[in-house]
Amino acid sequence: MSSSVKPFIVVGNWKMYKTSEEAVNFVENLIPYAETASSQVYLAVPFTCMDPVAVMCKGTKIIPGAQNMNDRDDGPFTGEISGKMLQSVGAQFVILGHSERRQIFQESNEFINRKIKKAIELNIRPILCIGETASERDKTQTTQVLTSQIKHGLNALKGDQIAELILAYEPIWAIGAKQAASPEVVQKIHFFCRNYIADQYGITVSEKISILYGGSVTQENAKLLMEQNDVDGFLVGSASLNVESFGKIINNSKGSPSKN
Ligand code: 13P
Repeated sequence: MSSSVKPFIVVGNWKMYKTSEEAVNFVENLIPYAETASSQVYLAVPFTCMDPVAVMCKGTKIIPGAQNMNDRDDGPFTGEISGKMLQSVGAQFVILGHSERRQIFQESNEFINRKIKKAIELNIRPILCIGETASERDKTQTTQVLTSQIKHGLNALKGDQIAELILAYEPIWAIGAKQAASPEVVQKIHFFCRNYIADQYGITVSEKISILYGGSVTQENAKLLMEQNDVDGFLVGSASLNVESFGKIINNSKGSPSKN
C-alpha cells in the first residue's frame, strides 16, 4: 500500500520550550529553510507564542499550530485553552493525545476523542498521537495498545474526516531517547496501523491518512526513516528546537534540495 502521493509532513513539537521572543527569532531564521523544503512544515508552538508565530507564518510555507486544546468552547475551566481561542489566533492544526498528555496529565481516549471532534468542527487539523510503553512492547501488547488508541480516539468519526487527519506513531520508549525506533520496526508498525484503518474504515481512508513517526528523529536518522513506504512524515521534538537541525530535516525530505 503506497503512500508516496501525499506530501511528506514534518511537524516540530516544541513542547514547553521557547519564550515568545525566542519563538519569533526562530521562525525568522526558519523561513529560508522552509522556502526550499519539499516537505510540508508544521510548527506546534506553546500557547503563549501562537499569536506572533501565526502572524509571522502568513505568506510563508510554515503552518502554525498548537500542542493541545480543551474540547469545550468556553466555561469555568481554570487554566484551559479552547479550540475556539486557538482558531482566533491562527492555529491551523493541533497535536492531541501526546503520550506526555496521556501519562502526566491522565488524558483518556474518550477525552482525546472529544477534542478531535471539536478540532474537526473548528477546521483545525488534528494530529492524533498513539504509542506503547517499553513494558507494553516487551509484553508484546503493542498492536493491542495501538488499535485501542485508534479505535477509541476515532470513535464516531466519519471516513472522510478520518482521511483528513494525521496519525502520529510515537513509541514512548523512543521519545527523548538516544535512539529512534529502527526503520524496520517503524515500517512494520505503520503498515499494521494502515491495514487496521483499511479494515475498519476502508482502503481509501487508509491511503489518504498521513501516518507520521515520532521519537528521537534527527538529521542523521531522518533519511533512512523517511524511505520507509508507510512513513508519511515526522513528529520531531528536541531536533525541532534548533533551526539548523530542523532545517536539515525538512530539507532532507523525498526529492528536496539539501542544505548539507
Ligand atoms: P523527541 O524527538 O525529542 O524524541 O520527541 C518526540 C516527541 O515527543 C514529539 O512529539
